[in-house]
Amino acid sequence: MSRSPDRAMRLAFAFAFAALLPMSGIAMDGIGRAATPDEIKAWDIDVRPDFTGLPAGSGTVAEGEVLWEAKCASCHGSFGESNSVFAPLVGGVSKKDLETGRSATLASDSPTRTALSMSPTVSTLWDYINRAMPWNAPQSLSTNEVYAAVAYLLNLSDIVPADFTLDQNSIREVQKRMPNRNGMVEFSGLWNRKGKSDVIAVACMKDCAKTAAISSFLPDFARNAHGNLALQSREWGPVRGANTEVAAGTGATAPIKIAAKAVSAAATTKKLADGKGCLACHGLANKVVGPGFTDVAGKYKGDAAAQKKLEVKVKAGGAGVWGDIPMPPQAGLSDADATAIVQWILNGAAAE
Ligand code: HEC
Ligand code: HEC
Repeated sequence: MSRSPDRAMRLAFAFAFAALLPMSGIAMDGIGRAATPDEIKAWDIDVRPDFTGLPAGSGTVAEGEVLWEAKCASCHGSFGESNSVFAPLVGGVSKKDLETGRSATLASDSPTRTALSMSPTVSTLWDYINRAMPWNAPQSLSTNEVYAAVAYLLNLSDIVPADFTLDQNSIREVQKRMPNRNGMVEFSGLWNRKGKSDVIAVACMKDCAKTAAISSFLPDFARNAHGNLALQSREWGPVRGANTEVAAGTGATAPIKIAAKAVSAAATTKKLADGKGCLACHGLANKVVGPGFTDVAGKYKGDAAAQKKLEVKVKAGGAGVWGDIPMPPQAGLSDADATAIVQWILNGAAAE
């Protein structure tokens, strides 16, 4: 049973590769074949901001309204206003935005983020609907239906009039009225780190630590976005938050330093003992059901045989040394855990 997901994964990979290789034009050891022009055409459907790739066709606002009721309204609402399935598509667009090309709502305290208020390019709206909608039957619309759906959405936002026909030519005029056409930000997704991008792909099959030290950093503008990470570190485990405080007045970031104090071996073993249920019956210093662990340490001080003897006793259980109440066998305890816990007890059962 446990093997079948693994096998399914490998099969999926094999299929993915079989599908990708011919597309990339790589023929490996007789696997795959070159893609035919028709196959490439079927994949190559993207429409660029400059309308490269946009197929010829047309659709009216009125046709779009009919299509919308039939295939889109159930999820997006009759007027693209519904936010029960996802963010509303329509809203947040003012007449002024059509002039400025910058959706004012996006800079306000409570921005109305919709497909129409955000999209800088009408081609993207076209491409997205063509590629992905309706959600339950993507790529089922004809080219003219996509034009019609886009026309209807544009009309709902008063970008085009009710008698408008959208086609491969008029869509260029529409672009000049898009409410957020000047809202595109253009920057590299990669951070510049000492003259290099923050992702460096170096093929490495051995001694990789020498080739590329794995590290991460926060750019200055993001360092304090969630408060000082060091103060949010948990007190145990290997995860340490860097000190991301901005040094007062300087605007400079404090040097990264290990924030949380090292967790001692004693604290780790105490956690282990707690996890094994020992502390339900034993206090560190006080008697509960069984003796306090510091009392146990005191009793066996200087007794070289105590370590082994107590390991056996803890696992087997027993009574009579501290009173009549027996300790039940701690049978599930591994030898290694028994050794560590008894050692910790005999060393004085320190909490940290
Ligand atoms: C079964 C529900 C459903 C139907 C039907 C549906 N959509 Fe969607 N639509 C969604 C969901 C869910 C999303 C968000 C998907 C995502 O972001 O991954 C979405 C997103 C969109 C977006 C992008 C919104 C944005 O801001 O990113 C547009 C535009 C859109 N749909 C148009 C249409 C059109 C046009 C139709 C009809 C031809 C349609 N949808 C039919 C569920 C649906
Ligand atoms: C259900 C309660 C209970 C639990 C759980 C329990 N103990 Fe005990 N333990 C006792 C009692 C009662 C005694 C006293 C037994 C005796 O008098 O011989 C005792 C005695 C001991 C002693 C001293 C034994 C001796 O002979 O001096 C050690 C060491 C000890 N426990 C360790 C542990 C460790 C480690 C665990 C967890 C793995 C554990 N105990 C879990 C009840 C418990």
